[in-house]
Amino acid sequence: MIVCVCRRISDREIARHARAGLGFEEIQFELGVASQCGQCEGCARDVVAQCSASNPTANIQRATTTLEGRPWTPSQPSSQNSRSV
Ligand code: FES
Repeated sequence: MIVCVCRRISDREIARHARAGLGFEEIQFELGVASQCGQCEGCARDVVAQCSASNPTANIQRATTTLEGRPWTPSQPSSQNSRSV
């Protein structure tokens, strides 16, 4: 997804730089994101915060409920997937 329309910079590009350890200001200097109209700054900062090397678990959230029934456990044989010949 393009984050910065003015400079045509994607979230992937910002994330790649953030994972390499660059902060927002360094990424801004390197790529030019948020350096023209500034409309993308909030979104770009969010991407940096989610992907920065100092915060590697920002995207991991613990599930509080199971959405679809019981979780699958490998020790139980699955009768639904067996074939009858
Ligand atoms: S959209 Fe990024 S500076 Fe304009």
